[in-house]
Amino acid sequence: MSSFRIAVFASGSGSNFQAILDHVNQQKLDIHIELLVCDRPGAKVIERAEKAGIPVFVFRPKDYISREMYEQEIVNELQKKQIDLIVLAGYMRLVTDTLVKPYYGKMINIHPSLLPAFTGLDAIGQAYKYGVKVTGVTVHFVDNGMDTGPIIKQEPVDIHEKDTIEELEQNIHKVEHLIYPEVIELIAEGRVRLEGRRVSLYPKK
Ligand code: GRF
Repeated sequence: MSSFRIAVFASGSGSNFQAILDHVNQQKLDIHIELLVCDRPGAKVIERAEKAGIPVFVFRPKDYISREMYEQEIVNELQKKQIDLIVLAGYMRLVTDTLVKPYYGKMINIHPSLLPAFTGLDAIGQAYKYGVKVTGVTVHFVDNGMDTGPIIKQEPVDIHEKDTIEELEQNIHKVEHLIYPEVIELIAEGRVRLEGRRVSLYPKK
């Protein structure tokens, strides 16, 4: 397998970014984070990337007249670096065709609920307040909708009566940090097939 090049997009703390980085390093995988794209100067994820010597493309959406303008700059960076997969990890923006068209099937997102339930912001809080007994984590391909793309993997997380929202958040993040690196590895090994809305996984034997 030749080196698999990923770009991670994040806006905040970057705990998923860190989990992916730690996983590829610990497992000595031939998967490399070539770029962090961040729309919030000062976000903690930038520190994490700098510490690991990973190049960062930071921008301020307000400095551009349209979303398409900054996305085109991002696409140029991705092409320069020959990125194989875009990994959205807490990137708090919708993406447009400028990114989706060239990268459909090569861009994934992680969402902290069992989609299609609780799309959008604060999915953990939405599930908690709704009172569901089971929520979870979804990894999916990205299309132009909000959390609507074809689902690659889902993992349930129980909500116990005594759980506080903080405990639920911790439980969700633990699962995210396990399954996101796993899915990236499967894609890098060519073990994920997308046909229409259906995604098939071919785990290692
Ligand atoms: C995660 O809960 C992810 O599911 C959601 O945004 C959060 C990002 O957290 N899309 P972090 O920045 O990776 O810690």
